[in-house]
Amino acid sequence: FPPAAMHLNDPAFFARQARTRRHNSHKGSYGNVFVLGGAPGMAGAPVLAGRAALHAGAGRVYLCFAGEPLVVDAGQPELMCRAARDVDYTAGVTVAGPGLGGDAEAARLLASAVASHQPLLLDADALNLLAADPSLLAAVAQRGAATLATPHPLEAARLLDTPVGTVQADRLAAARTLAGKLNACVVLKGSGTVIAAPDGRLVINQTGNAGLATAGTGDVLAGLAGALLAQGWPGWEAALAAVWLHGIAADMLVAEGAGPIGLTAGELIPTVRVALNRL
Ligand code: APR
Ligand code: MG
Repeated sequence: FPPAAMHLNDPAFFARQARTRRHNSHKGSYGNVFVLGGAPGMAGAPVLAGRAALHAGAGRVYLCFAGEPLVVDAGQPELMCRAARDVDYTAGVTVAGPGLGGDAEAARLLASAVASHQPLLLDADALNLLAADPSLLAAVAQRGAATLATPHPLEAARLLDTPVGTVQADRLAAARTLAGKLNACVVLKGSGTVIAAPDGRLVINQTGNAGLATAGTGDVLAGLAGALLAQGWPGWEAALAAVWLHGIAADMLVAEGAGPIGLTAGELIPTVRVALNRL
């Protein structure tokens, strides 16, 4: 890869990972996703991430609530609801952060997922907890399994201990520096999402539109990327594909008149599924 940013327009770059399903496969073939989040008052964030993971092909998806768990997601009863403290995070991929909150119990739950030796995606409050805890951040950097981090600019600024204006003034540099610091594939979100790997690979995504500027679309991206990890995609390809699919789904919805004004995070999910099946 060239040291400068490589602009990605060609989904064939990562579509090689999208294998057709073997006839004799079963749900165990497609991995478990644990969405760790859901502090009191924040149940919607893990629901969106979990629904996205389910529609992106994960074999089983668990919603793991730091607060009081939902009994069931009535709109998506395929999701299994658990108290986060009762979950064994070594049994699959964890998507940590959607609505997780920032208290000591959230930090303890996050630390157990970080220690899991399984692919891990860090988003939202998981990133804020890392920014506040240098020893947890060091544990992330020393992980053996794939790690993805999906900060928006303010979350990236907290992790880099720099003003958000500095992040936005050179988004490529910020993503690259953070990828090195976390030893993770970093998705620096926003218009022109940047994806950076610890080895210096750097891509600017070309899909998506301002219809995505609405609450919960980041949770959908996190669940989608987690599902690809659970199905065995390597971290870099999972990050690239998730960002590209999330954006193209928004572009498809705009083309049919469902945005950009008033596009909702939840309605991205079935369109992501269409885009993924067409890869
Ligand atoms: N053009 C293209 N993409 C965009 C645009 C735009 N103008 N605006 C937003 N997006 C995309 C981003 O790239 C990202 O994929 O929409 C998504 C927004 O993600 P987040 O910023 O994480 O937003 P949200 O889903 O609301 O986050 C949920 O987590 O990050 C915390 O504080 C946040 O409580 C909030 C929660
Ligand atoms: Mg977010």
